[in-house]
Amino acid sequence: MDLQNQMKKAVAEAAVNEVTSNMIVGLGSGSTAAIMIKTLANKIKAGELKNLRGVPTSFQSEVLALELGIPLIDLVSVPQIDLAIDGADEVNPDYQLIKGGGACHVREKLVASKANKLLIVVDQSKLVKNLNEVFPLPVEVLPSAWKQVKDVIEKMDANCKLRMAEKKAGPVVTDEGNLVLDVLFNGGIKKPKEIEKQINNIPGVLENGLFVDLTYKVLVGKVENNQTVVYSPERVN
Ligand code: 5RP
Repeated sequence: MDLQNQMKKAVAEAAVNEVTSNMIVGLGSGSTAAIMIKTLANKIKAGELKNLRGVPTSFQSEVLALELGIPLIDLVSVPQIDLAIDGADEVNPDYQLIKGGGACHVREKLVASKANKLLIVVDQSKLVKNLNEVFPLPVEVLPSAWKQVKDVIEKMDANCKLRMAEKKAGPVVTDEGNLVLDVLFNGGIKKPKEIEKQINNIPGVLENGLFVDLTYKVLVGKVENNQTVVYSPERVN
């Protein structure tokens, strides 16, 4: 296993240690969350966790959880989620995130917003000083509005690209049937709270990948002296 996957595995396993029986758990998306879902399924099979129900954040996590026998419940049927565990594309020192690398950020944010606690699992490469200097901000848009939204965002001193699919002609179509614009602001995002609102205020935008003030804890996997270490950086405002 390569180093990055070792870090992902270690951090996913540490996150599952925070799950207890009878919980409703938000099941995140992406490769780190997938390892977490597999670990959770193993603990259920071993009888270490009982009466657990998962709320998927995407088709990816739904299919995986179903295949592994994790009982699922719809987002609409739960009043609240005890703990959501998800990955991220960038994490700043104030625990603000960019998510949506897998184009699932609409449902991921719905699950995170309904969760009492959002636990983020990342390897060290995801920690950044300033958001969006490297990783573009995903913005989900109605298919009929993509060009109009792109034109508005480009006037905000940003570069904006329609996300194209691989192994399919044309754009990526999200789980909700929409398209994604990937946005890089000149100089990155210094004020995530303001940018989140500003973008969501553009007609035709469904949701963007800025997760502001939702995270209670970040678990980071890193490799030190050939050993995998998991730690939680202190939140710095
Ligand atoms: C999907 C996400 C993922 O959590 C994010 O892209 C991180 O994925 P990975 O763990 O594969 O790096 O936000 O929309």
